[in-house]
Amino acid sequence: MSKKIYLYGNWKMNNTYAETEAFFKDFPAVYNPVKDAPDLEVGIFAPFTSLWPLSQAAKKEGFIFGAQNVYYEASGAFTGEISIPMLKEYGVTHVIIGHSERRHIFFEPDEMIAKKVKALLDAGMTPVFCYGETLEERESGNTFTVMERQIKSAIAGLTPAETAKIIYAYEPVWAIGTGKTATPAQAEEVCKWSRELIGQKEAVILYGGSVKGSNAKELLSQPDIDGALVGGASLKPAPFIEIYTAYKG
Ligand code: 13P
Repeated sequence: MSKKIYLYGNWKMNNTYAETEAFFKDFPAVYNPVKDAPDLEVGIFAPFTSLWPLSQAAKKEGFIFGAQNVYYEASGAFTGEISIPMLKEYGVTHVIIGHSERRHIFFEPDEMIAKKVKALLDAGMTPVFCYGETLEERESGNTFTVMERQIKSAIAGLTPAETAKIIYAYEPVWAIGTGKTATPAQAEEVCKWSRELIGQKEAVILYGGSVKGSNAKELLSQPDIDGALVGGASLKPAPFIEIYTAYKG
């Protein structure tokens, strides 16, 4: 069998409750033809306020769903935050952690990201841990130094069984929402290097940054890229699922 492809959509701060319901009116028509493919795992990550309609659709259509952030404490005086038990009530199993927008717009430090990863693992959930360099870091030759810091900080103190449960997502900041994709060779170089650093041959490593139907085949065919974390192209069902069909075709 061909390798399993993880097609994960990160809606970011898009798709209200009503828009989520509208999305799932159109979704079955494009998802049904591929939903039983044994080599495909679809996941959708929505804003907290859209998790309820998302959870209902996920149950009905059969796909994974999750949140885009969580706080590591279970309860308490943390105004504006959402806890793991709160997400569990909605059936959430996966949570994106350390997305570059959390790191750069909301200044989440490596230490906080590491605590979130650990709290999710302790709760039996799957962190989708994001890392990646800015353009400035790449151009100054610091790509690997920065990513080594990000990854090592997130997995420090975890057992091999725990690091194997994380889904990793390499997202070069300069390729996110810019239309500029890392070349397949650039993405493969980092994903291969990450696999060695993580020390897990079977680690699931996704690439994210302007993935769409037209570049999916080249990117997803790389041996160390197990799937895509998709922003813009995941906001409508057809361009999202096209990423898988383009890879297959
Ligand atoms: P785009 O696909 O819009 O570039 O976003 C990538 C991303 O940040 C997914 O998490």
